[in-house]
Amino acid sequence: MTRTILITGAGGVGKTTVAAAMGVKVARSGLRTLVVTVDPARRLATALGVEELGNEPQPHADEPDLWAAMLDAKASWRAVAMRHADPEVAARLADNEFFRAASEHFPASQAYAAADQAATFVQAMAWDLVIVDTPPSGGGIDFFAAPAQMADLVGGRLLRWLTGGPIPGRRALYKFAARPVLRIADSVLGSDLLERVAEFLLDLRTTYDGVAQRGREIERVLSSASIFVVTTSDPAPIREAIKFYRDLPGLASSPTSVIFNRILPDEWAEAVAPPGTSPALEANLARWSAETLRQRDSREEFSSRYGAHIATIPWSPHPPTDLDGLAGLVEEASRLPWAEVGIS
Ligand SMILES: Nc1ncnc2c1ncn2[C@@H]1O[C@H](COP(=O)(O)OP(=O)(O)OP(=O)(O)O)[C@@H](O)[C@H]1O
Ligand SMILES: [Mg+2]
Repeated sequence: MTRTILITGAGGVGKTTVAAAMGVKVARSGLRTLVVTVDPARRLATALGVEELGNEPQPHADEPDLWAAMLDAKASWRAVAMRHADPEVAARLADNEFFRAASEHFPASQAYAAADQAATFVQAMAWDLVIVDTPPSGGGIDFFAAPAQMADLVGGRLLRWLTGGPIPGRRALYKFAARPVLRIADSVLGSDLLERVAEFLLDLRTTYDGVAQRGREIERVLSSASIFVVTTSDPAPIREAIKFYRDLPGLASSPTSVIFNRILPDEWAEAVAPPGTSPALEANLARWSAETLRQRDSREEFSSRYGAHIATIPWSPHPPTDLDGLAGLVEEASRLPWAEVGIS
């Protein structure tokens, strides 16, 4: 069985780093591990050996059980269309300017494509563990909401209204195009505009069954995954982390752990300036001590309010840039949920 871990959280909190670090540790324990990253920082990509990668998983040159793949952030409706529409329809969609515009501007399409790709890796059953570093759009929630949103959009009421019956024909298209308000728009914006819009909607509509069915499969994969929410101790990322507790249960399984990253060492809370210390240094120590206490309070509050399992990863003066650095980061961590990733 392939276990799945979804690493999520606000932008910049260390999701990719945590996904990579856990991946290295698990691979070194002898489990075949695939880390699926999104747009890693360059040095992290080098460490993982994914500098040049597309979305095909590749084995790491120096770590036999570690594989990595990079989700294609540009994959979007185009990938959806290729997968779910007839080749002729897919080609027409790819050529349609409204389709192209929608695929660039509708965020759920990218989240959907990412979730679809991640689910494909899990379903391949080729790894013991797949760790997915989810894209940060919508604080990561989009990734979980996308399968349902996409099916809704493609088969939704608006589209049904615009395109008529379940499998609308050209006649419905012309009825639609004949609406007076649209005819005015047409004369202002160009004569085949309506036909192009209607064609886009009609073609998109034909992907509905495929999208809906695949959406259910993706949701099944997502709901059997363990979800780790990464945050720092700062208010904005914590608010994002709380959103997962509020919004996720309706979409997928609940988060299983919250990982507070970049935390200051507990000893700093009690740091006392030795006698004779300059007032400036004393003030500085007092500030760090207060910050350490604030961080501890924010973890305790999170834990008591949401009953979350809290793990911590210390702030490291040298951000990890190679496999040993990544492994070192999680060695210093506390209460990471290793049992859930399959190692003790
Ligand atoms: N515990 C840590 N100590 C020190 N630096 C860290 C730590 N964790 C992450 N970093 C650094 O913080 C930066 C952001 O980390 P990372 O790219 O993993 O965040 P992310 O959540 O994936 O960001 P994005 O949302 O942009 O994808 C990187 O430079 C990384 O090296
Ligand atoms: Mg990242």
